[in-house]
Amino acid sequence: MSKKKTLYVCDNCGYESPKWFGKCPVCAEWNTARELKLEEINNMGDDRPYVFLLKEASQIEENLRFSTYSEEIDNLLGGGVVPGQVILLGGEPGVGKSTLALQLAEKFSVHGNVLYVSGEESVSQIGLRAKRLGLNENSIYITTKNEIESLILAIKKQKPVLVILDSIQTIYSNSVEGVVGGVLQIRTVVEKIRKFSKENNVPILLIAHVNKEGNIAGPKLVEHIVDTVIYFEGEKSTDLRILRVLKNRFGPSGEIAIFQMQNDGLKELKDKIFIEESNMPGNVVTSLFEGTRPILVQVQSLVSRDKMATARRISHGIDVRKIIIIAAVISKHLNLPIDSHDIYVNVSGGLKITDPACDLAIASSVLSSLFNKFLGKTVIIGEVGLDGSVRKVHNLKKRIDNARKAGYKRFIVPYDEVNGEGIIKIRNLRDLYKYFVED
Ligand code: TYD
Ligand code: MG
Repeated sequence: MSKKKTLYVCDNCGYESPKWFGKCPVCAEWNTARELKLEEINNMGDDRPYVFLLKEASQIEENLRFSTYSEEIDNLLGGGVVPGQVILLGGEPGVGKSTLALQLAEKFSVHGNVLYVSGEESVSQIGLRAKRLGLNENSIYITTKNEIESLILAIKKQKPVLVILDSIQTIYSNSVEGVVGGVLQIRTVVEKIRKFSKENNVPILLIAHVNKEGNIAGPKLVEHIVDTVIYFEGEKSTDLRILRVLKNRFGPSGEIAIFQMQNDGLKELKDKIFIEESNMPGNVVTSLFEGTRPILVQVQSLVSRDKMATARRISHGIDVRKIIIIAAVISKHLNLPIDSHDIYVNVSGGLKITDPACDLAIASSVLSSLFNKFLGKTVIIGEVGLDGSVRKVHNLKKRIDNARKAGYKRFIVPYDEVNGEGIIKIRNLRDLYKYFVED
């Protein structure tokens, strides 16, 4: 005989425990434990078939991809949308999720009807947005119905080729209790739509709000249920928007797609260059690797003498600890009085740099500002060690080739097997220093 099961789920982050908890051990919120009864757990049960012929399974994926007619998004997804694929698109409010969804709906409607379920905005609001985006597509259907059971019935009748739920925090199920947008509701809604999706081979795009802490509150707990998880990143102060794949059962993860938010919607940035070219000292171009491709970016520094006791290090788009380390390495190995200078570093276009291959460019940018000398049209790539050495980076050839395509002819890089015209190899910061003090 099975015992009566109870499960406690944190309403904030989805942590599960067989025992009650006052404070969630994961998100540290108090009084968020919600008791789930056995029937509720069963309601969310999984009755997918478990046995597939491996050969069939791999064919499904390869043969049946539907293009989104957006080069960036097709590339992001590993070649297009797979039937029955459930995609979670997370992002902070205002980043552009609904805009992207509507633009995607229009492009995808080449394949048939697309159903856009909006629990966030009224039909007329969406109509206005469509006008702003210049969409006049006849095969996009909109509904503001937000009860999943009747939605699924409607979807079955209408037979769309893509369903968009905007957002999963506003859709609810009448089969379980719990607040709309709470853990139990979100999980039930996503389970139900996924089951429908898999049985009917209809791809689904689930939109989810991410709270300020960066985790998709609630939605975090459905990440493992969906096939693909994509985050939409971008800061309000810039128009740059990045889609990043965190998980993809049907393609590579880590891939990114880059857009610019304009007055009439999101535009693909095909050249992937974030440079407003400047010949001013302090500006250095480098190549960072995101997903499977290089992106040219410009690092900008301002180094100024500090009259106060402690020199400031302020950065935007780069972890400030990186600046502190690079400044210390410059100070020690080049014997420069940089400890008494303020250093401000910026990355163009609102991009964030974590790739260590950009270290040398950061160091060069600092030196360029310090010596008030612009190095000329050059791409600088390399990792900097604490000992002042310049280290190899991965994919150097791809980075150089990409920069050549953009018109760059001079490269300062680490010693490596890569050879070619205009390539200058250096071993350490001293080698770099020469370019700033010699003519
Ligand atoms: P939205 O798609 O509503 O964001 P989300 O669904 O993620 O909350 O986009 C919101 C912002 O984008 C809003 O501040 C206005 C801006 N925007 C543009 O700049 N251009 C456009 O064409 C559209 C539709 C929106
Ligand atoms: Mg929205």
